[in-house]
Amino acid sequence: MRPDHRAAPAPERGGTRSATAVAHPNIALIKYWGKRDDRLVLPRTDSLSMTLDILPTTTRVRLTPDAEHDEVTLDGVPLEGEARQRVVAFLALVRERAGVSHHAAVDSENTVPTGAGLASSASGFAALAVAASAVYGLGLDATALSRLARRGSGSAARSVFGDFAVWHSGRPGGPAPATDLPPDTEPAADLASYAEPVPSAEFDPALVIAVVNAGPKAVSSREAMRRTVETSPLYGPWAASSETDLVEMRATLRRGDLDAVGEIAERNALGMHATMLAARPAVRYLSAPTLDVLDSVLRLRRDGVSAYATMDAGPNVKVLCRRADADRVAEAVRGAAPGGSVLIAGRGPGARLLAEGER
Ligand code: DP6
Repeated sequence: MRPDHRAAPAPERGGTRSATAVAHPNIALIKYWGKRDDRLVLPRTDSLSMTLDILPTTTRVRLTPDAEHDEVTLDGVPLEGEARQRVVAFLALVRERAGVSHHAAVDSENTVPTGAGLASSASGFAALAVAASAVYGLGLDATALSRLARRGSGSAARSVFGDFAVWHSGRPGGPAPATDLPPDTEPAADLASYAEPVPSAEFDPALVIAVVNAGPKAVSSREAMRRTVETSPLYGPWAASSETDLVEMRATLRRGDLDAVGEIAERNALGMHATMLAARPAVRYLSAPTLDVLDSVLRLRRDGVSAYATMDAGPNVKVLCRRADADRVAEAVRGAAPGGSVLIAGRGPGARLLAEGER
């Protein structure tokens, strides 16, 4: 039996001095591309992803009551600049909610190549949300943790959950929690945007990840999505078609129809990249090796292998296929991009706190 990855992290009551959490990256099958509120990280569209079982981020948060600043390290190296600022702003938000002023030391171990379109911010902020919430004693359930993780990085809202997760944009008309808050206020908008598990059939998909370039990207996804929303004439049509894609995707996941899942995911991702190519100035993440891998995916399909590509804010390609075909797909993409490396991922677990003995 496959492990049940939908289990939610246990809520924590009362703060502890230190807590460690682990979270995995997720790959969107229906993409999040475009915010309607930058500060609250509210997206323009719903998105849907698969959490992976590889490349976890492990984050330890430790209260440092005597310190005057937060300390943040990634793989043992102090973070600086904007990356540090994002973590510090996130901790400030947690402190404000907890009514606690103590600073913290955050140590994160990332197995994802940072900034290469492999969703390191998703696993990073999901792990940070779970660990920081425990340390500051927020006592959040999984839905509230998802909302909190969203404030660090939108896609992190989905990594709180395992398997497949949908992230509700929170736009009026969608599912919203029962509340007395006026619907057009900031707290109501914040409450309405969170991820939750998506029911799916017992099927065994794999994502073969072709890392054609593990270096950091030239344009951050944050900047790229802002530019796309503001200047691309293709953004509106893509956002509208993404809504239909999401409805169809949910139905195909319930059936466990890998070919339909792959077709929808591929068209949604290509459409997202089309919106960026039409931005002014254009944002182009797809490189020559990316196109070579896309060609190899077409050849696989011509040879009868179910293989479908999706790409994020970077040149790497993730190929959705059956687990049983993963080695063959990996060999094909390795041949297409000989300079790169290839990873194979399956359905992974949600974010969780580690017990003392697991650290
Ligand atoms: C292309 O979640 O990294 O991977 O909310 O600004 O931190 P911020 O963006 P981020 O964007 C991810 C975009 C994407 C698509 C997706 O994961 O849905």
